[in-house]
Amino acid sequence: MTTNKQVLLANRPNGWVKESDFRVVEQPVPSPRDGEVLVRNLFLSLDPYMRGRMNASKSYVANVELGAVMVGGTIGEVMESRNSAFKTADIVVGSFGWQQYGVDDGNGLRKVARRNFPLSLYLGTVGMPGVTAWIGLNKIGQPKAKETVVVSAASGAVGSVVGQLAKMQGCRVVGIAGGALKCSYTMQDLGFDGCVDYKAGHIAHDLGRETPDGIDVYFENVGGDILEAVISRLNPFARIPLCGLISDYNSTTPKGIPDLRPFLFKRVKLQGFICSDTMELWPEALKQLADLVENGTLKYRETIVDGIENAPKAFIGLFKGENFGKQIVKLA
Ligand SMILES: NC(=O)c1ccc[n+]([C@@H]2O[C@H](COP(=O)([O-])OP(=O)(O)OC[C@H]3O[C@@H](n4cnc5c(N)ncnc54)[C@H](OP(=O)(O)O)[C@@H]3O)[C@@H](O)[C@H]2O)c1
Repeated sequence: MTTNKQVLLANRPNGWVKESDFRVVEQPVPSPRDGEVLVRNLFLSLDPYMRGRMNASKSYVANVELGAVMVGGTIGEVMESRNSAFKTADIVVGSFGWQQYGVDDGNGLRKVARRNFPLSLYLGTVGMPGVTAWIGLNKIGQPKAKETVVVSAASGAVGSVVGQLAKMQGCRVVGIAGGALKCSYTMQDLGFDGCVDYKAGHIAHDLGRETPDGIDVYFENVGGDILEAVISRLNPFARIPLCGLISDYNSTTPKGIPDLRPFLFKRVKLQGFICSDTMELWPEALKQLADLVENGTLKYRETIVDGIENAPKAFIGLFKGENFGKQIVKLA
């Protein structure tokens, strides 16, 4: 270990993000000082929220400075510890960003156990996306058995967990995903009752066919045309956990909701949420998700690219649906 390869933010994109908005550099591996640990990152998580951090305008958290390492969740192995709470070879989840190594005083690290599933899952189904699904569905969606739950970006990191958790609660679950392959995966592998391929070009018609009793919970990951199609199927007192709006993240002119009247007439509850708002729920959610994965009840799928230098291309792919399941970068 001599160098630390990093990916920096080189430009603030205007509209679609490009590979030239990033710069790959090599720095010396940092040395931990008293109280710190040196971590070699094994996997990096690529997530849609990172697009917002590339903008100049602040959203719910600070953006990435130009020339700084891109933000991101990581899981890695402690190489050297000068902090009594950690020892060499501990596995830690952290936020070291798009780089191979990092030092931390321990406050930003969470030790995790080696269990009977791949460590990369701590960045997906048993990590932030899984917890997001758990919180949004259980605390905002609050589905009841036999209700219809619809989730967009259904084969992805968050959506796949939402649908499976809703199935476990006895709901009828319908996914919305891009392409026949992703749709058949949600039904055959994840057990969804139906799925609408929004790329087939007749989403309103197909959604009507798959939701004969209307929609009680719509877990929103996408926005835009998909949200518009869902609105007309909502039942009275429907709940919408507003988790993400990925169809707008690269847009300079985001789409709005054209007509709010259905929300009033149907007394719809729509609530935006950020998973880090309720950190007190994480331990319970993480424990349940880990147990469900370990006993084979909760299924997952990952797309793993090799090497930090391939992170920009894989990140851009998130906005084109090139990932199938959780997008991970293998670093070591
Ligand atoms: N609120 C929070 O705390 C929180 C936390 C985590 C994630 N999120 C949000 O949750 C959503 C899903 O995140 P994820 O990590 O699970 O990503 P993901 O679903 O694993 O990957 C993104 C997927 O979004 C779909 N997509 C991309 N552009 C689209 C478009 N224009 N129209 C329709 N679908 C599009 C693609 O699937 P298809 O091939 O099916 O189109 C793509 O594979 C995102 O909006 C993200 O920002 C929110």
